[in-house]
Amino acid sequence: MSDWPLPFWIAHRGAGKLAPENTLAAFRLGAACGYRAFECDVKLSGDSVAMLLHDAGLERTTNGHGRAADQDWKALSRLDAGSWHGRLYAGEPPASLEAIAQFCIANRFALNIEIKPTPGHESATGEQVALAAERLWRGSQLRPILSSFSPSALDAARSAASELPRALLIDKPQADWLDIAQDLNCVAVVANHAIWQQQMIDTLHQAAMRALAYTVNDPATADWLTRLGIDGLITDAVDRFSPDTGKACASPMDPGVCSSGTHDR
Ligand code: G3P
Ligand code: MG
Repeated sequence: MSDWPLPFWIAHRGAGKLAPENTLAAFRLGAACGYRAFECDVKLSGDSVAMLLHDAGLERTTNGHGRAADQDWKALSRLDAGSWHGRLYAGEPPASLEAIAQFCIANRFALNIEIKPTPGHESATGEQVALAAERLWRGSQLRPILSSFSPSALDAARSAASELPRALLIDKPQADWLDIAQDLNCVAVVANHAIWQQQMIDTLHQAAMRALAYTVNDPATADWLTRLGIDGLITDAVDRFSPDTGKACASPMDPGVCSSGTHDR
């Protein structure tokens, strides 16, 4: 169980919903809230550049149209990935994995890279994201962890960069979850918070693996999972959970520091 890169609290997509997800601006806000570990979604542009984007399509979080997988990074990097969230972030560009790596390495922040393939591109995405991560973090003491809902992507990541730790993501109960995670030599399973049970966490710990939950935004759920022995929580509520104490903040953090994001629509 050594060489584990993540602290207990992890900021989802940079800073949850307080800033435009998966942008460098979100990482900066999450860091301003005290977070030292982040989760982000990474897929490939049409010319195989590893970039941060949750959806296959560009419409929800940028002013672009169509799939990122069909466009070159040069064009994608000029999009506005901030205005959808609010005027404060107008002009914020999509982030490359390289930009996020520079930010995390310079600050010694930990990163959970969720490999989020465009459907049909699972193996290529796993391979290219793992190769990029291996190159970008080479020589760094704090390596990223690669996670995915796609066993194919994790298998390709293992072949490309076997030394980078991997985690299986699961959204719903499935009988073969432990077998899949062990077959892929995963060091952790990251599950939807609603499906964790004491026996699952105990089973993982007996197998020398860790158990993490997403996306935990209320104190009662965080307390319950902590009592079960969960090893990490991924949260949107970076203004409400203190990453240092593991406890919910008594009151929301200074809005001037941590609640500057507004959803205009
Ligand atoms: O990596 C945990 C979580 O981010 C998985 O779900 O849809 O928010 O990427 P999603
Ligand atoms: Mg994700």
